Amino acid sequence: MEFTTQAITITKTKASRLPEVDFDNLPFGSVFADHMFICEYRDGAWQDARIVPYGPISLEPSAKVFHYGQEVFEGMKAYKDAQGQTWLFRPLENARRLNKSAARLAIPEVPETLFMEGLKTLLEVDSDWIPTQAGSSLYIRPFIFASGTGFHASPADAYTFIIACAPSGAYFSGKVDVRIEETYSRAANGGVGYAKAGGNYAGQFYPTHLAKEAGFQQVVWTDDNTHEFIEEAGAMNIFIRIGDTLLTSPTSDRILDGITRKSILTLAEAEGIATEVRKIRVSELLEAAANGTLKEMFGAGTAAVVSPISGFGYQGKRYALPELEDSYAAYIKKRITDIQYNRAEDPFGWRYAVGGK
Ligand code: PLP
Ligand code: COI
Repeated sequence: MEFTTQAITITKTKASRLPEVDFDNLPFGSVFADHMFICEYRDGAWQDARIVPYGPISLEPSAKVFHYGQEVFEGMKAYKDAQGQTWLFRPLENARRLNKSAARLAIPEVPETLFMEGLKTLLEVDSDWIPTQAGSSLYIRPFIFASGTGFHASPADAYTFIIACAPSGAYFSGKVDVRIEETYSRAANGGVGYAKAGGNYAGQFYPTHLAKEAGFQQVVWTDDNTHEFIEEAGAMNIFIRIGDTLLTSPTSDRILDGITRKSILTLAEAEGIATEVRKIRVSELLEAAANGTLKEMFGAGTAAVVSPISGFGYQGKRYALPELEDSYAAYIKKRITDIQYNRAEDPFGWRYAVGGK
């Protein structure tokens, strides 16, 4: 099924909210751009692709998303360079991951052309919403949910695909201390952990709330079976530097295959930083902390970009991480964001231009 920009109807808002936005003090994900892309799946096909003013949508109380959580989403960003050109970062990876998540949740896949044309058209309509302030970008949230009705516990017969955007600043406002989880699990073998399904996040809120009460910002999930191996954090993949080697866990059906994670691995390898993708025992982390070889930890994700971890908690004890002058986190963050904002060459072909200026 091919979609072209011409097939997308555009209804513009009569009253832009742009003048109300304080672009110098942007929160993360809570100010919404003027328009959204919306499209429905009915009678076995995606149809009625359109751009409309961002606003409430109408659903029946029996829509299956409310009862069975049949929903998947993506997270990506648009950047504007000094010349006013808009860029995306590896957007086809998001389109493919959305469909991988959709397949696992028995949601019909969205044709890549529909995803890309809808996204590009929306970004052209809301181009003025893409921030140019340092560290800010337009956070993009594509999502699909079951709008079809019924209390029968089975897949819906109708779905809605929306792309909404929020000009955003940093995801974390201060330091990031993490608690290594010993009781709760985010995902299980054979489950939906690798999918960006809303329910994965709902299930994290309570354990994360407990960690926050204890003074941490995020939970680092461990394997559900033994809680002995580091997996990922609530909204980012985890990297650990022991000596001069950068370690991260292999992806599995419990871990999200992060686009930032794989970009960092490619970048690090190209720049001569030793990397190891392997299972990491919590005991190895503790040993490295004890013998001084644990240099740094950081999280990586679209929202979080590269977020240095200032310390971690485990079995009631807190471990502080040193503040390095020459951290891999700072170096990698600069390399990745320079590519994203078109401030440096893009040897990997990751940048994707949208429209003219
Ligand atoms: N892990 C989880 C659970 C996430 O929600 C995210 C955010 O998308 C990531 C990792 C990082 O993935 P990406 O780099 O593709 O944004
Ligand atoms: C992202 O990084 O885009 C995410 O989806 C994380 C989200 C839970 C804020």
